[in-house]
Amino acid sequence: MKEKIAEELTQLIGKEFTIREIEDWIEKPKFTTMGDFAFPCFRLAKKLKKSPVEIASNLSSEFTVKGIEKTEPVNGYLNLYLDVKAYAAVVLNEVLEKGSDYGQMDTGKGQVITIDFSSPNIAKPFSMGHLRSTVIGNALANLIEKTGYKAIRINHIGDWGTQFGKLITAYKKWGDENKVKKSPIVELHKLYVYFHEQAEKYPELEEEARLWFRKLEGGDEEALELWTWFREVSLEAFSIVYNQLNITFDSYNGEAFYNDKMEGVIEKLKEAALLEESSGAMVIRLEEEALPPCLIQKKDGATLYATRDLAAAVYRKGTYNFVKSVYVVGNEQSLHFKQLKAVLAKLKIIWADDLIHVPFGMMLKDGKKMSTRKGKIVLLEEVLAESVNLAKQAINEKNPSLPNKEKVAQQVGFGAVMFHDLKVFRQNDVHFELEDMLRFEGETGPYVQYAYARASTLVKKAETATGHSSQALYETFDSFGETERPLIMKISEFEETIKQAADDWDPSKIAKYCIDLSQLFNQYYARTSILKESNKVKQEQSLQLIKSVKITLKEGLRLLGVAAPEEM
Ligand code: ARG
Repeated sequence: MKEKIAEELTQLIGKEFTIREIEDWIEKPKFTTMGDFAFPCFRLAKKLKKSPVEIASNLSSEFTVKGIEKTEPVNGYLNLYLDVKAYAAVVLNEVLEKGSDYGQMDTGKGQVITIDFSSPNIAKPFSMGHLRSTVIGNALANLIEKTGYKAIRINHIGDWGTQFGKLITAYKKWGDENKVKKSPIVELHKLYVYFHEQAEKYPELEEEARLWFRKLEGGDEEALELWTWFREVSLEAFSIVYNQLNITFDSYNGEAFYNDKMEGVIEKLKEAALLEESSGAMVIRLEEEALPPCLIQKKDGATLYATRDLAAAVYRKGTYNFVKSVYVVGNEQSLHFKQLKAVLAKLKIIWADDLIHVPFGMMLKDGKKMSTRKGKIVLLEEVLAESVNLAKQAINEKNPSLPNKEKVAQQVGFGAVMFHDLKVFRQNDVHFELEDMLRFEGETGPYVQYAYARASTLVKKAETATGHSSQALYETFDSFGETERPLIMKISEFEETIKQAADDWDPSKIAKYCIDLSQLFNQYYARTSILKESNKVKQEQSLQLIKSVKITLKEGLRLLGVAAPEEM
């Protein structure tokens, strides 16, 4: 609609300004009494050599756009009022015609954006931080696609580093193959923790671990075999969670993948005379950038996390030719990504600016960081299972005769955890409280899912009762008025919301949108009785409205990675 208004205004103003400019200036008034849109005329005054008041008044007398009922010039603003009957036709016909494509944009024109997310560490539990990265990253990848880019989802697995020397040492001393096979993450993590305890008493263990890591780097058969096995069993364990949450990746190239790709970058750094020695290690000074030096190579020649990320950035540009390369990683790594970009910039790499770190806050439990260290581990699988359990209890109370209860309990249980993580702006910390997330009222996943299920049930009942519903195209929805207006407006804001969420890398805008739409739908639902409606046209039009709510809500939830059960 905004676009249509902008087109007409640009015409009337006389091509002094572009449609884009005009569209950007259109505002949404704070109060609906001041119209549904407002166009401030102040910026035009200079070029048009007229006062804003005069411009607004001229525009008002000439303006005609289908769907706009009236216009009013007020203090240099042109206020525009939607004709809900005509506007409903514009909006609803589009939703019903496009279905799940509603809100799809072509901004990206198929260009690639790589998105690095989840990226857990082998042989360690999937932390709450990794859950946040997984859930936020997945939603962002969906938004990237919805805005017309191609998303390449990369799981940069933490599968290299000195810790593997420790793990091999520990496994060879105290490990039990069967135990590791049975619950790999728990066992390997235990071994790792045990290694640290023992190393405090017997420091020579550290030397042994260093040796094993050097062997691993040198391609020693035994070391490689163990490492490969640890990696495989860990990935299998992670994939359980990915399957449950219905999350996929295009690449699992982790840190180890870059082992043979770092030479090139190190060479370039040498050529550019950026590497400096500092007590035996190789570093890049970043004083001009007001950053601490970036460590590239240790004394013993071992490379680091940062070295592998440099190689990964170069590899990704070469392989995917991205227009942007996004990293969904917690706040605590902000410095790392600043250094990464600074080093690339020092190499005069023009796309250094296309690297984007999308940080997020912590997951808190009882006011403290939810941690998985020190042997006391909260396993994500257990958290998710508990959530499904709570969902099952709720369903048993609310709707004991529901078919495929198991499936719905999973959709609600997983959806609740994901939605909870997405509904607050990612930079804020999140309080982890299962009972809160699973409430059916308030700003929760189940609340939105329940609104969706209600809408589905209603549509199904109405279609059975009325025979079959026609998909008549209405030129105007004459039965509509103020009751329908808020829903129509909300539905029409879907695309704009997606655009903003994608621009700000902020899925919480979509979560809030889903809550708003659900609330408006519930209010509407309480006020109208479609099944009993005797006016067939009104009944049909109301049904089209509800179907449009369904389509929009389902697509909103899909963007967040949350399922929409038809019944619950
Ligand atoms: N594995 C790392 C961690 O758990 C996250 C990796 C993020 N991605 C990257 N390219 N650095 O902290």
